[in-house]
Amino acid sequence: MAMPKVAVIYYSKTGNTRRMAELVAEGCGQVAGVEVAMVELPGMDLGEAAQVDGFAIGSPEYFSYAAGHVKTFFDEALAYKANISGKPYVAFGTHGGGARVLESLERLSQALGLKQVRPGMMCLGAPGPSEEDDVRSLGRALAEALCS
Ligand SMILES: Cc1cc2nc3c(=O)[nH]c(=O)nc-3n(C[C@H](O)[C@H](O)[C@H](O)COP(=O)(O)O)c2cc1C
Repeated sequence: MAMPKVAVIYYSKTGNTRRMAELVAEGCGQVAGVEVAMVELPGMDLGEAAQVDGFAIGSPEYFSYAAGHVKTFFDEALAYKANISGKPYVAFGTHGGGARVLESLERLSQALGLKQVRPGMMCLGAPGPSEEDDVRSLGRALAEALCS
């Protein structure tokens, strides 16, 4: 049987969200038997998305919303009917003080029929040392959901 596959898909301009994505991927990697791929947007092929079993979706907050490349991924997944409905997901994001980015990520994910494994996580800028384990645990929870 093929190993379940997680895609950590994210956009990052200045590295804060990329650092979160790396920690989420590390957390996924703590679960044996799960394949993990990091995909920086734009760059997620919708055909490949259909082969993914679980999604971790991350964005910086731009104008109180998800960044444009992340919104475009959702737009295209809906428009081209990517076969991802019903798959588990977690969301994560970074912000500069607004703390609104998770609202948009979770609304978009739910509109596509993705199923939330655990409430998402936001960091003010890059994750600090005291936040790193919590970010990893978000990825671990997603990977565990694929093995249960
Ligand atoms: C165009 C732009 C718009 C932004 N809008 C917001 C915002 O509405 N609220 C907020 O808290 N931070 C805002 N920020 C700050 C970013 O969300 C924050 O710096 C984030 O950590 C950047 O992530 P990155 O390093 O992964 O690119 C904005 C930054 C940019 C460049």
